Amino acid sequence: MKKNIRDFDLNNKRVIIRVDFNVPIKDGVITDDNRIRESLKTINYAISNGAKVILMSHLGRVKTEEDKEKNTLKPVADRLSELLGKKVVFVGETSGAILEEAIYNLQNGDVLLMENTRYEDLDGKKESGNDPELGAYWASLGDIYINDAFGTAHRAHASNVGIASHLDNGIGFLIEKELDNLDKAVNDPVRPFTVILGGAKVSDKIGVITNLVEKADYILIGGGMMFTFLKAQGYEIGSSLLDEESLDFCKEMLDKYPNKIILPVDCVCTNEISDNGEYRAARISDIHKDEIGADICLQTIELFKSYLQNSKTIVWNGPLGAFEYDKFSQGTKDILAALANLDATVIIGGGDTASSAINFGYKDSFTHISTGGGASLELLEGKELPGIAIINDK
Ligand code: 3PG
Repeated sequence: MKKNIRDFDLNNKRVIIRVDFNVPIKDGVITDDNRIRESLKTINYAISNGAKVILMSHLGRVKTEEDKEKNTLKPVADRLSELLGKKVVFVGETSGAILEEAIYNLQNGDVLLMENTRYEDLDGKKESGNDPELGAYWASLGDIYINDAFGTAHRAHASNVGIASHLDNGIGFLIEKELDNLDKAVNDPVRPFTVILGGAKVSDKIGVITNLVEKADYILIGGGMMFTFLKAQGYEIGSSLLDEESLDFCKEMLDKYPNKIILPVDCVCTNEISDNGEYRAARISDIHKDEIGADICLQTIELFKSYLQNSKTIVWNGPLGAFEYDKFSQGTKDILAALANLDATVIIGGGDTASSAINFGYKDSFTHISTGGGASLELLEGKELPGIAIINDK
């Protein structure tokens, strides 16, 4: 079991908390602050236990000087200050005297947010490449290191793996919650255990399918990836997404697990995935050559619901259609609505699936909505996440 923020005496200590504040920002305005909100429990705990809180996060990718301005964490500092109801000291530097002095001046219970850790990537990818000197330098700014950046845990950066190699460390409440939910659902599920998979390409989900196919009772397949499975079954899929290189994998899975992998029986077809264009419901056996499948349709929704109604644990990763267009979002919406009414453990696995659940009004309807995109996917693949592996055991 990993050491936890609760295991430390934080009073009068400089506590570095690595958070994942990599949030969408448009024209300087945060369009989804879920990751900031999900970090509040750990930050508030550190404040109320007398820590001098030093927050670090990356934001976006910084490859040129111009990338710096659009990836500044300043708007995040302002939003965090509103959410905490207290001043957050924002330091627009990632190293040097100004940062060091601001940290020196912190009083117990104060909160400081350092500028985007990836500013250091301009100097030879020092953050993303886990430069040892940078990790050691950042570690010298604190007494204790808490990693609560679940969304970044699949990366080995100087600000997670690097700092943790030099300081006594533990996980925060967000990582604890993510692990409790995702790990338990996958490795010790109450059965029946059903996995819903969507998204564009089979190749992105091969690791997840391989890891979960033996553990789950059913895998329901939707999204763009369903068409490669249907093609592997011999159907004409028209101009729908085809992930040619994964065809053999799909055939193998269907041969080995014919009663476990559940495929759609109908879909919404269109001649273009856009706001324009006609669309219609089609049986899977009736997709025309010039048509593109863009969503699951009514009979598939009912079929999927029949499996979900009896399930006690459900993990979902990947939207079931091109949900960013209203007319292709019905499958994703109807399955969200069905899940919200179930007496079951429901885990939504990050990225697009998490944002669709939140945007369609289901933020508080499920057992857990992961804050990690790539990180939750890698956890579902059964991979070890370096940002968590480096944290000390109790
Ligand atoms: C994410 O949003 O998935 C994490 O913050 C990691 O970001 P990255 O893919 O840019 O490393």
